Amino acid sequence: MSAATESFTAWIYRLPKWRGWLQLSPARPYMHTEEDYNTQYRLSAPDPREGEGLCALLKTHQIDTAGPALEIGCGTGYLTYGVSLHYPGPDFLVTDPSPAFLRLTQNQLEAQGATTTRRHYAVLNADDIGDLPEGMFSVISLRSTLHHILDVPGFIAACGRILRPGGALMMGAEPCESGYLLMAAVAQSIPATLKAAGIEMRPHWTERLEDFTNTVKFCCLRDLKKTYAEDKHFFSPHQLAELGGANGLQLKFYPTSSFRDFAPPYVQSFHSFSNFFLIYLQVCMNFDAEFMEQIRTHLKDQLRFIDECHRSHPGPEITGVFILKKTAPGTPV
Ligand SMILES: C[S@@+](CC[C@H](N)C(=O)[O-])C[C@H]1O[C@@H](n2cnc3c(N)ncnc32)[C@H](O)[C@@H]1O
Repeated sequence: MSAATESFTAWIYRLPKWRGWLQLSPARPYMHTEEDYNTQYRLSAPDPREGEGLCALLKTHQIDTAGPALEIGCGTGYLTYGVSLHYPGPDFLVTDPSPAFLRLTQNQLEAQGATTTRRHYAVLNADDIGDLPEGMFSVISLRSTLHHILDVPGFIAACGRILRPGGALMMGAEPCESGYLLMAAVAQSIPATLKAAGIEMRPHWTERLEDFTNTVKFCCLRDLKKTYAEDKHFFSPHQLAELGGANGLQLKFYPTSSFRDFAPPYVQSFHSFSNFFLIYLQVCMNFDAEFMEQIRTHLKDQLRFIDECHRSHPGPEITGVFILKKTAPGTPV
């Protein structure tokens, strides 16, 4: 047993247990019904590609994998499944504050059978990550979770402390401020564009539209108390680069990419701004089919303009993969 495995095993042995899981935080349910999550996001069978892509990036960036991996906010296991199959290190600690999510992911992973990585499960709220042992983890992985964490600077600082040198914080599917702001600006032009085409906005269309634009504004603002909101923040690569740099973590950002793009068959999942925008409104903001048809027809020119501006390079930055690698002490960032 390596020293890293030994200290991890000794640490988890000492932790309190709750309902058979390790307990690092008090349990806290998600703000929406956990069992409906996969249906809303149209996820059916477990798919290993997201986690496989993350593990491919660990190789590409020569990330240390001698120690355990930690996943924060596993949800229904969209990223977890493939990491559990492909992580080359000895241990994988899967966490979420929600017991219902932890149970759903655990059931999925246990159905997978044995893997070379030992799996462990803990109730953990990322705001308590500062209590974890220094230099313990090789990898900290998150997908679509950073924007839920209240104190992002505190979280990044704690990651810098609990990562091993050469380890990395790997984050995917986080919302980028400039891309979401562009989506909201286009969305705000919908009523006037439809009116000019002689189409009257329905009250529930206006309600869904305002829900979207208000959420964007809330997540952009940095002078509000966000304790009780589920979606809290948008990010910019330069903000995360600065936060990382201040904590010994060097950023590599892949704009518009998803982890799965780095796994076979190596297909870019982001097609264009218009494609992302239309899917987002329909799936994430529940715009109905008729409203979507009007938007597709009457906002064609605005959307084509934005797509054309990015015909030969990735963008606009709506999301992406953020890798914050812990540099060895003394390495210039
Ligand atoms: C949008 S879901 C993403 C789930 C999963 N990672 C995925 O990609 O499908 C956000 C996840 O973050 C978790 N979460 C919310 N607030 C959190 C916090 N403060 N600390 C850790 N996880 C949190 C939720 O319980 C949920 O599982």
